[in-house]
Amino acid sequence: MKLKTHSLLLGAALALALGGVAHAAEEVEVVHWWTSGGEAAALQVLKQNLEKQGVTWKDAAVAGGAGDAAATVVKARVASGNPPTAMQMLGMVITEWAGQGIMGDLSEVAKKEGWDKVIPPALQKFTVQNGKWVAAPVNIHRPTWIWGNKALFAKVGVQPPKTWDELIAALDKFKAAGVLPLAHGGQDWQDATLWENVVLSVGGADFYRKAILELDEQALGSDQMKQVFERMRKLSQYMDKNRTNLDWNLATAKIINGEAAMQVMGDWAKGEFATAGKKAEVDFLCFDFPDTKGAITFNSDAFGMFEVGAAKKPAQEKLAKAIMDPAFQEQFNLVKGSIPARTDVPMDKFDGCGKKAKADLEKAIAANAMLGSLAHGHAVPAAVKGAFFDVITNHLNSDMSADEAVQQLIEAVAAAK
Ligand code: BGC
Repeated sequence: MKLKTHSLLLGAALALALGGVAHAAEEVEVVHWWTSGGEAAALQVLKQNLEKQGVTWKDAAVAGGAGDAAATVVKARVASGNPPTAMQMLGMVITEWAGQGIMGDLSEVAKKEGWDKVIPPALQKFTVQNGKWVAAPVNIHRPTWIWGNKALFAKVGVQPPKTWDELIAALDKFKAAGVLPLAHGGQDWQDATLWENVVLSVGGADFYRKAILELDEQALGSDQMKQVFERMRKLSQYMDKNRTNLDWNLATAKIINGEAAMQVMGDWAKGEFATAGKKAEVDFLCFDFPDTKGAITFNSDAFGMFEVGAAKKPAQEKLAKAIMDPAFQEQFNLVKGSIPARTDVPMDKFDGCGKKAKADLEKAIAANAMLGSLAHGHAVPAAVKGAFFDVITNHLNSDMSADEAVQQLIEAVAAAK
């Protein structure tokens, strides 16, 4: 009897210890760059969701919009044989890591949960590599938007512009009224975000596809491309000169507090409005960059899963499942400003901008005008992206002519591809 009690106790202790071990292994380390107010609030939804399941979240944030700084950190970690459980990845980054054969395989969970039926093919092109699911997509963002301060529009008597000429007229009106017309940060990816909007406004989906997705030399050297740089120069006249290295969310703050009228930025900006308690169509406006004719760019934040070995795999799968949960995708994207990656999440709780994003996306898919974002890693490999960024930024921040910029672009892209 005594012995039995003893062994029972031992068993319990062992179970507890094992439980403890299992619990300790239930940890995920996630590298991401969601450090602004809106981004951090959205991430909190994911952290809490996992913590409810007993999975500890080890945060590895690397600040820097669009994720280039985070990518550098992960490269160093992978090189020293210490990859995190997962990393926030944009499109081509997933493809590049998969090419190195170090991504894990989520296919079993994906199959069980039918991910292939609810994730649009344009996203699966990145999240499925060589037939294996290697990343779980959480959202669809759209970099082609203009955000406006509604009260300022009313005060100065400006309507959301529908054409390039109307946009310039509107910017002039704000300038004359003593309002900063265009809030714009000072980092290469922000310049590239504006640039891809301008490319769409000059030549629509076909020109974007040829010049950026296909890197067609004729398109890169065309008069249309020259016009893109001329328009960038024009827009620079409405920006604050004092913007070197300014973060995107600080530019958004200028719209929120009424210092500036408009910002061209992806819909992560909506997360900033939301955390500041501002409401779509009441406090701020969202409208298309003019003349883009239904073409939009997109990027999707996915969590790429590295090969972590059997002990850490269960927690990694829990993370993937949590990201793909429809209720979570609704809750997360309501805070983040994006729309769910899953097509089966109801949109009724989303504001007018979110509903418009979803409707425009469906129209763009039907018109073959849903295009991977250059600025946000869904168009070309990192080296080529870097070549675009250099020329775009050097041009915008100097007095380089449009002819010179076009020439440099052709050369830089040829050298990088
Ligand atoms: C990401 C967003 C993020 C933004 C600014 C984009 O590339 O997709 O999730 O909010 O960068 O950091």
